[in-house]
Amino acid sequence: MFSNFTYQNPVKIVFGKGTIAKLPELIPAGTKVLIAYGGGSIKKNGVYDQVVAALKGYDTVEFGGIEPNPRYETCMRAVELAQKEKVGFILAVGGGSVLDGVKFIAAAALFEGEDKWQILEGAKVNQAIPLGSVLTLPATGSEMNQASVVSREETKQKQAFFSPHVYPKFSILDPETTYSLPLRQTGNGIVDTYAHTLEQYITYPVDAQIQDRWAESIMKTLIEIGPKVLENPNDYSLRANLMWAATCALNGIIGVGVPQDWATHGIGHELTAVFGLDHGQTLAVVFPALLRHQKEAKRGKLLQYADRVWELTGGSEDERIEKAIELTEEFFQSVGVPTKLSDYGVKEGIEVIEERLTKTNFARGVDGAIKAKEAGEILAMCR
Ligand code: NZQ
Ligand code: ZN
Repeated sequence: MFSNFTYQNPVKIVFGKGTIAKLPELIPAGTKVLIAYGGGSIKKNGVYDQVVAALKGYDTVEFGGIEPNPRYETCMRAVELAQKEKVGFILAVGGGSVLDGVKFIAAAALFEGEDKWQILEGAKVNQAIPLGSVLTLPATGSEMNQASVVSREETKQKQAFFSPHVYPKFSILDPETTYSLPLRQTGNGIVDTYAHTLEQYITYPVDAQIQDRWAESIMKTLIEIGPKVLENPNDYSLRANLMWAATCALNGIIGVGVPQDWATHGIGHELTAVFGLDHGQTLAVVFPALLRHQKEAKRGKLLQYADRVWELTGGSEDERIEKAIELTEEFFQSVGVPTKLSDYGVKEGIEVIEERLTKTNFARGVDGAIKAKEAGEILAMCR
C-alpha cells in the first residue's frame, strides 16, 4: 500500500509560445521588481528583450551573474540589493540555477538571523519575497517546487533547502526560449529529468499504480524524444514535450505516497562540489552504479522497469535487470552525457567524498540505506 499523503502545489504554470508577454497579468501593477539572471544567455536569445518589453510599466532593478550551481557569495550580493531597493517581487529569468539562487535570495532577504547560510543548514524559513520565473532550461523542476540548491565557494559545500514560502507564484514556460540551449545543457536536462523520475520510482513496489505509470510515461517519453531534440533543436513539439516532462518529473506529483531514494543526487552534489561536474553529468555517472549496487533491495522495481520501460521479456531476472541498466547508460550517452568519471578526467581523489560524507552523517536511499561507506563503494564503481 502506498502511504497517506497531503499534496498541494500553488504554482501557476503559464505554458507556450509568446507567454512572456503575459508578465503584467502575473505581477501586480506598481510592484518594484528585481530581474535576476545568469551569465548572459538571455541577452543573446531575445528572452531579456521580451522580459524588459513586458515589464515596461514597472519600476525594475537588475541583478545578473548568477552562475551555474549558484553561489552563496553571489546570492548574498543580490540579497543586499533586494533589501536596499526594497523590491516587492523577484523574477528569475534563466535555468534552474538562477531560479534556485532567487529562491535563496528571496528567503534570505527577509530572514531574521544574521547568518543567512543557516537557511541551507535547515533553519526554518518563515517568509520570503514573492518570486516568479521565466524558465529557459528544462531540467530541475525548480519552476514548480519548493526546493533550492546553493553552493558555497569558501567551504566547497553544495546544499539544499526546502520551504513552501519559495514556491514561485508563477512560472512562464515558453519552449521557444530553449532553442538556444547548447547541446550539453539540453542533454544534462534530459538526464536530470530522467534521474528525478528514477529517484521517485526505483525503490520498492507499493502498488501505487498511478504514480508508477506517470513515472513510466515520463521515462518512455524522454527515451523517445531525447535523441530527437538534440538533432532538431528548433522543433517546437519536441521542446514543448521535454519542457513539460521536466516540470512534471519534480513538481511532487509522481512522488506522492511512494518511497523515494535521492542518494544519487546527494552523491552527485558532492561530485559537483569537489570536481566541478555539471549536475546532469553527476547523475549519469552515479545512477547506473547505484542501481547495480542496490540490485537486491530494488529488485522488484528494477524488474518492473525492465518490463514496462524497456520492454525486456527474455532471459533470467538478473539478465533483464542488467540489460535495463545497460540501456539506461546507453540512453544517457545517446543524449551526449558520458557515464564514467574517467570520461570527465576524474581519475584520482574520489575517496575524499566518502570522508566528506562521513563527517556529515550522510544517509540517503530507501530508509537511509546509503551511508558514506556505501556511497564510497558506489563511487568506486563509477571510475
Ligand atoms: O547563465 P546563463 O548565461 O543563463 O547560461 C546558462 C548556464 O550556463 C545556460 N542556459 C540556460 N538557459 C539557456 C542557456 N543557454 C542558452 N540558452 C538558454 N535558453 O545553461 C547553463 C546551465 O544553467 P543552469 O541553470 O545551471 O542549469 P540547470 O537548469 O540544469 O540547473 C542546475 C542547478 O539546479 C540544481 C542543480 O544542483 C544545479 O545547481 N537542482 C535544483 C533542483 C531543484 N531546485 O529542485 C533539483 C535538481 O535535482 C538540481 O539539484
Ligand atoms: Zn536533479
